Amino acid sequence: MSKLVAEHVFKVFGRRPKEGVRRLKAGADRDQLRAEGTTAAVIDASFEVQQGEIFVVMGLSGSGKSTLLRTLNGLAQPTSGRVLFDGRDVSSLAPKDLRELRSHRISMVFQHFALFPHRTVLDNAGYGLEVQGVPRREREEKAAEALELVGLAGWERSWPDELSGGMQQRVGLARALATDADLLLMDESFSALDPLIRRDMQDQLLTLQQRLRKTIVFITHDLNEAMRLGDRIAVMRDGVIVQIGTAQDILVDPASDYVASFVQDVDRSRVLTAASIMQEPRVTVRPGDAPGSAMRALRTDDASAAFVVAPGRRLVGTVTQEKVTEALDEDGGTVKELMVRDLMDPHCVTTHADTPLAELLTPASRTRQPLAVVDDEGRLTGVIARDTLLAALGDQPATVVGVPAAPATGAGTPAGGPVKEALDA
Ligand SMILES: Nc1ncnc2c1ncn2[C@@H]1O[C@H](COP(=O)(O)OP(=O)(O)OP(=O)(O)O)[C@@H](O)[C@H]1O
Ligand SMILES: [Mg+2]
Repeated sequence: MSKLVAEHVFKVFGRRPKEGVRRLKAGADRDQLRAEGTTAAVIDASFEVQQGEIFVVMGLSGSGKSTLLRTLNGLAQPTSGRVLFDGRDVSSLAPKDLRELRSHRISMVFQHFALFPHRTVLDNAGYGLEVQGVPRREREEKAAEALELVGLAGWERSWPDELSGGMQQRVGLARALATDADLLLMDESFSALDPLIRRDMQDQLLTLQQRLRKTIVFITHDLNEAMRLGDRIAVMRDGVIVQIGTAQDILVDPASDYVASFVQDVDRSRVLTAASIMQEPRVTVRPGDAPGSAMRALRTDDASAAFVVAPGRRLVGTVTQEKVTEALDEDGGTVKELMVRDLMDPHCVTTHADTPLAELLTPASRTRQPLAVVDDEGRLTGVIARDTLLAALGDQPATVVGVPAAPATGAGTPAGGPVKEALDA
């Protein structure tokens, strides 16, 4: 079950909001409603957020992000549609249950986090718990834990005005974390921070999230922030969610010209990962293969080299056609009692599926083979030929993107196949 579901949520401000929704459903747009004195802040928003996901809502100022966020915790009632939290319709909750939801299960972190100037950092961090009626000792314990989580251990007894802006924002985050809420709603939480501190906070949130696995809805108008943080991103325009997808989806397959123009300046090489361009490993051989059968495999695919894969798809090396040839006599028989494991080079250049393309250039330049993509257990999951990488980075000549050209003199002379492609790149 999804943690949070928005079903056809509309939020219309003005004298006759319901009538506004009716007009929107009949095809009117935001501008028409505005001419009639009604503001359509959110138009037919539907999405599901999974437990543990960071769901980013991104859009320009006035696109309806904050209004949408406020419907998620019942601060604003949808004019039409509903919001389900853990399967329960938020708008049908009794006031008491709604208060309980907002103080215990859902926390909000705003852009300008208002700390109480006459309370210590510890008391500020424990404020949400105080609202919950948690006794002082337990409150201070949890607040101190939360402060430690956000890197503020040692600052418990300080006063807010002794803290930098970034640190104050961390106290805000600590306050949200201390309550044990499982849904965090973050509205431009880092937007008021200096760029470096902001990046720092983004990193910290991602690190925290690996440990805490909260469900987070994060609002930003900054595309780079959205791409860094979001497991998925909803792009809003004039009240409408125009696309929902991963950063890669949105970059590779923008749903409209609007989204395309929005993302045109994004540095693709930092968003797209190895997974987006890797291909099935074509030629693989086993350590125990005889040179003859390795040669057949290489020839079938016209490859100059193959990855050597042990049982369980574990990558153990590469073997070149040149090496295999040395182990064969003229009639194709084996010269000595050699197997692939005796002929292979155990040093493969590998990478991981989630490595950004920008970070593949250096490893790609260190090998004439395609890059091997392996998982945490060292299993071969894909290969990336060098020219595939270069094409993905925009068809730029190798020198421009900083890859030393591959050595012209290569082992073997076969044509075709991913290995050959890499050698030719
Ligand atoms: N209480 C309200 N009454 C009337 N109109 C409102 C109200 N709240 C928001 N709006 C309007 O709804 C639209 C969406 O506003 P909202 O604050 O949700 O946008 P936003 O995407 O969060 O913008 P920003 O990036 O500037 O924070 C705007 O046109 C705004 O003026
Ligand atoms: Mg806003």
